[in-house]
Amino acid sequence: MDKIVSLSRRRGFVFQSSEIYGGQGGCWDYGPLGVQLKNNIKQAWWQSIIQERDDVVGVDSSILMNPRVWEASGHVTGFSDPMCDCLKCKMRWRPEDFEGTVCPSCGGELTAPRQFNLMFKTFMGPVEDTAAVVYLRPETAQGIFVNFENVLNTTRKKLPFGIAQIGKSFRNEITTGNFIFRSREFEQMELEYFVKPGTDEYWHDHWLQTRLDWYASLGMNPANLRLRAHCDSELAHYAKACSDIQYLFPMGWSELEGIANRCDFDLKQHSEHSGKKLEYFDEETKEHITPYVIEPSAGVDRSVLAFLIDAYTEEPDKDEIRSVLKLHPRLAPFKAAVLPLSKKEPLANLSKEVYASLRKAWMVTYDDAQSIGRRYRRQDEIGTPYCITVDFDSLNDNQVTIRERDSMTQVRIPIAEIKAYLFPRLKG
Ligand code: GAP
Repeated sequence: MDKIVSLSRRRGFVFQSSEIYGGQGGCWDYGPLGVQLKNNIKQAWWQSIIQERDDVVGVDSSILMNPRVWEASGHVTGFSDPMCDCLKCKMRWRPEDFEGTVCPSCGGELTAPRQFNLMFKTFMGPVEDTAAVVYLRPETAQGIFVNFENVLNTTRKKLPFGIAQIGKSFRNEITTGNFIFRSREFEQMELEYFVKPGTDEYWHDHWLQTRLDWYASLGMNPANLRLRAHCDSELAHYAKACSDIQYLFPMGWSELEGIANRCDFDLKQHSEHSGKKLEYFDEETKEHITPYVIEPSAGVDRSVLAFLIDAYTEEPDKDEIRSVLKLHPRLAPFKAAVLPLSKKEPLANLSKEVYASLRKAWMVTYDDAQSIGRRYRRQDEIGTPYCITVDFDSLNDNQVTIRERDSMTQVRIPIAEIKAYLFPRLKG
């Protein structure tokens, strides 16, 4: 983990939030490379969940919602974690984060666990009183449930169908840590997949496999992924069953994504609290039913961390150790780097032409500083799959050398063919 944290900071993937003021606990900023990686992960998710399917549509709901949403969903009363206070150093702990009975920090005596609500509260409008209290959403899911009827009416989807969204969520976590693994502000990629009751277990299994396959399709080592079913005492207040996709993080197997069978809990709760019947008319049986819902809920930040850890490789190269981020080309922040052998004209001009034509298609970088070997190393370390070297021969033969990151093999191809060469390779 230390290597990933250091690489992230040094190369501009992730910075501490508000760093010049000493930081803000449990919050992180993504730098120029981090935001690219994060966007690529979100784009790959959107493509597999929405673009390539007929049965799922997207929404983007607001973060601040009517507070009654959170009463209906059970979050105001039930979204809490047990917390112990240390009587000596005043630190707060989640009992599940440590073993033993004393404070893991100072050895002091701990209070008995009490429930701590994780909802962030704020005030809407100029008056700071209880009537103005609103919550920052702790999950994006409720923005989907309250739009169930709107989406059904406007898209005329038939069961089974899903509504998906990507967005920020906020939780006043008692303890944060393990870098971007657990923070107070994070992003989720959530799908609510509505199904006929009775078919829910089939679809639960379907989504477990589909989501596992997605991580592997983007290059994550399947040996570092596993499913773990929740036992009854662990289940969230809304769930009939839930399995986590876990990743083997440096601190051990931990949750990357939760895939829950929320049955008809949410639609029924919102029907009851809003007075609006959130039902589906089944043309076959001519009955109104409340669909069940299967929810694959993935963390964007945890995915960033898992993909970084999985891709990070150190390998011997001559007398040195080469650090390579073997990211899948679809996730790599830059798809290629254009490296002129000289900063001077006429090589610079030709190199900039190559750069300008490629950046219309992909995120591409340009690097003309220091030796070519060092430039290769820099690109390896940030995961750029292809380095395109423009040399003095390029001026005569209009060809460039393309070096592939993982194998380090090189091919020489005409400048006019670079796009055709890269296109299938970057799709992966
Ligand atoms: N709507 C269901 C739901 O929110 P969850 O298991 O609480 O379920 C889903 O969260 C995913 O969101 C988790 O698997 C994790 O990837 C991410 N997540 C949850 N809390 C997080 C936190 N404090 N920091 C970073 N990611 C978090």
